[in-house]
Amino acid sequence: MKNESLQQRRLAASPRGIGVACDFYAAKALNAELWDVEGRRYIDFAAGIAVLNTGHRHPRVTRAVAAQLECFTHTAYQVVPYESYVSLAERINALSPGAHAKKTAFFTTGAEAVENAVKIARAATGRPAVIAFGGAFHGRTLLTMALTGKVAPYKVGFGPFPADVYHVPFPNALQGVTPDDSLQALQRLFKFDVEPSRVAAIIIEPVQGEGGFNPVPAALMQALRTLCDEHGILLIADEVQTGFARTGKLFAMEHFGVVPDIMTFAKSLAGGLPLSGVCGRAEIMDAPAPGGLGGTYAGNPLAIAAAHAVLDVIAEEDLAGRAQALGDRLKTRLSALRPRVPQIAEIRGLGGMVAVEFNDASGAPDAEFTSAFQQRALRSGLLLLTCGVYGNVVRFLFPLTIEDAIFEEALDILEASLLA
Ligand SMILES: Cc1ncc(COP(=O)(O)O)c(C=O)c1O
Repeated sequence: MKNESLQQRRLAASPRGIGVACDFYAAKALNAELWDVEGRRYIDFAAGIAVLNTGHRHPRVTRAVAAQLECFTHTAYQVVPYESYVSLAERINALSPGAHAKKTAFFTTGAEAVENAVKIARAATGRPAVIAFGGAFHGRTLLTMALTGKVAPYKVGFGPFPADVYHVPFPNALQGVTPDDSLQALQRLFKFDVEPSRVAAIIIEPVQGEGGFNPVPAALMQALRTLCDEHGILLIADEVQTGFARTGKLFAMEHFGVVPDIMTFAKSLAGGLPLSGVCGRAEIMDAPAPGGLGGTYAGNPLAIAAAHAVLDVIAEEDLAGRAQALGDRLKTRLSALRPRVPQIAEIRGLGGMVAVEFNDASGAPDAEFTSAFQQRALRSGLLLLTCGVYGNVVRFLFPLTIEDAIFEEALDILEASLLA
């Protein structure tokens, strides 16, 4: 099989709306390495878009899935339940921030988790409105698209969107938007557009993912908690991209000393199998009536088995500590390059959730340089993803289980590609 002929078949068989980053086709992958159908090797710093904190085919994960395959692959939890779902919910309830009673429901995709979090918040409060942030990414379904704070390419041509979704600016030091600006925008929203007593929830990513790996300033997160408490609004933390040790803690909210009412998670939960979830205060989670939540595949047993193994690996291999250590190494290496790469405007991130932003000499976002750097790295065998509202950020999503030697090799490619 050749990449070129597969590329022609892809273009003829699947729509261009599914934008594809690479023009080669996967044949095999292990931990942080991936080989294409022609045998070419890549170091994978994309990790299936933040899904593989435990790497490709971690032996613990593949063993757990293989064992589950021998038992049953699907019963529909709503028809015939299974213990592994219950025990995974118990584990997430115990591990997520806050000592209060919690309940967890599982779904399949991140967008589905966010949709359900909003449904639950509306059912619990009896209120319709939801506030999200500019630059946020919450998914591609109609409601999550409405919550997403970036027009192109996500929303173009897809409206009308569900009503009662509002946005306020996300703080961004480089662009001169302060946490106070965000809080003032919320107050203006309450004055001009929607009274706080109609707002069910404020949803926020603790570190914006697609938006550019921007951590929420702790002061803003704390102020949001106070504001929510004042008005009976629920705080939803969207941990779909930040969860499961990426930021140096199991959940990014642990960095802020703020407990959300509801949390969504997906991606690295199940090591490559599709699984997402919503965890929240028990009384809030119980607001929807029986039958109001669920989905045919929600909480698939193979994915649940993988998730148990992922949680074991994160604890036993101290992947939170490893995320911090690898993130620090990457930041040090990037910082040393700063004098020789004037386009570097900022190196930022939390733990292993690190990104570098590029501007041109006038201080404007330099998407062209960003893309050229990404392509140079790819040609040298390092797979990187961009992000950011202006497409001028490269984010690093290496498996946290990556071998030291391969991490160093990747940093060498990164350096050469930046200096080329
Ligand atoms: C923070 C956040 N929420 C939700 C989603 C949507 O997840 P999915 O693509 O699994 O629907 C994503 C995906 O990137 C995300 O980063």
